[in-house]
Amino acid sequence: MNQHYTSTAKLLHWGMAVVIAGLITLGFVMTDMPLSPEKLQYYSWHKWAGVSVFMLVWLRLGWRVLNPPPPYPSAMSPLMQRLAHAGHAALYALMVIIPVSGWLLSSAKGVQTVWFGVLPLPDLLEKNKELGHLLHEVHESLNYLLLVLLAGHVAAAFKHHWLDRDDIFKRMLPFGSASSKDNA
Ligand code: HEM
Ligand code: HEM
Repeated sequence: MNQHYTSTAKLLHWGMAVVIAGLITLGFVMTDMPLSPEKLQYYSWHKWAGVSVFMLVWLRLGWRVLNPPPPYPSAMSPLMQRLAHAGHAALYALMVIIPVSGWLLSSAKGVQTVWFGVLPLPDLLEKNKELGHLLHEVHESLNYLLLVLLAGHVAAAFKHHWLDRDDIFKRMLPFGSASSKDNA
């Protein structure tokens, strides 16, 4: 049984991690800016990158079905394995739900999303100021939830590396080489 994530899974993980970190930063920065052409440009970039995450996550899930992740070491308790699976499932769910909430909020605020300025996405809702405001709060709250999960995710990765000293972190590293001991 292969002990590694495939190169494609690694590329999608780290590529999307960078894009998502950028999206969160840009989201908080742009919403705090006074109205200006730059602010509007940043909103467009945010929406284009967010829609790209929505598309890539389906590709990633499809790839995962065809190339299942490596099994956990038997030293990892069943409870911890279940927690890790639940955490990953929640991250995947947020990579779908957060972009959809952004798309819905843009529709309710009456600003159509045109992906990279070429592909117009249909507005999912009629323009409605109150609903737009509410959906903005939903989008923001989901991002706080994502930040909490990511803090746990990153902490777990370093715990495996430095405390448990197993291969869980290494097998996701771009050029990491996991040892082949007991991963059955
Ligand atoms: C994984 C994808 C995404 C992440 C991580 C993300 C993250 C964020 C964050 C952190 C904010 C700032 C929230 C605040 O402080 O108010 C924000 C705002 C916003 N996002 Fe996203 N977003 C994503 C996808 C999208 C998508 C796909 C769209 C639209 C198609 C979108 C549209 C917006 C808009 C319009 C705002 C500003 C709301 C306003 O000022 O009314 N986002 N996003
Ligand atoms: C510095 C940041 C990050 C580090 C150190 C990190 C580390 C890791 C590691 C070591 C794994 C493999 C865990 C295992 O085999 O059980 C993993 C898997 C995963 N990571 Fe991250 N990650 C980071 C950022 C992110 C971000 C931003 C997201 C998305 C929001 C994310 C989503 C996932 C998901 C969904 C998996 C499960 C992959 C699968 O089994 O299909 N990660 N991460």
